[in-house]
Amino acid sequence: MTYAVTYSSHTGNTKELAQTINETLDNIIYFGEHDIKALNADRIYIGFWTDKGTCDSKTIEFLKQVQNKEIFLFGTAGFGKSEQYFNQIIDSVKSYINDSNRIVGSFMCQGKMPQTVRDRYIKLQNNENYQKYQMLIDNFDQALEHPNNKDKNNLIKVIK
Ligand SMILES: Cc1cc2nc3c(=O)[nH]c(=O)nc-3n(C[C@H](O)[C@H](O)[C@H](O)COP(=O)(O)O)c2cc1C
Repeated sequence: MTYAVTYSSHTGNTKELAQTINETLDNIIYFGEHDIKALNADRIYIGFWTDKGTCDSKTIEFLKQVQNKEIFLFGTAGFGKSEQYFNQIIDSVKSYINDSNRIVGSFMCQGKMPQTVRDRYIKLQNNENYQKYQMLIDNFDQALEHPNNKDKNNLIKVIK
């Protein structure tokens, strides 16, 4: 059984998860950003960052090329409060995967966002929307430490 680990990562969070997988498994014939070289492996670990509730566009394009493979999906998202939200994202990503493939597992965790996002929340927060933006700011602050070692250890447990 050969493996490939391929990812799209805008700010580095998903790359950290990809590196964790790369350090955990043997028999990896390709590790790097999405590339057709990954298609030579029996099982592909495919990493994405969440963009508007689904995977980023580079991952959508890559998934379209994958056929007759075992696929393990992993990703990061800015909003990490609920497992249900992660499941929704994974379900949405699955819709881009051809039926000839077999999805063998998935993993998601929270990933930090750029400071500009917090600055925008602060600017937009006022008396009327105070609670809503406070929730977003709290989520932002919580995301800052992710992916952390606990996330990475959880990922290792899932892939082993
Ligand atoms: C344009 C843009 C759209 C995003 N949309 C979402 C989203 O819909 N849901 C979410 O939870 N996080 C969203 N995020 C946050 C990123 O998914 C999150 O920070 C992720 O960990 C980034 O991964 P990366 O560092 O591998 O690029 C968005 C970020 C950007 C820049």
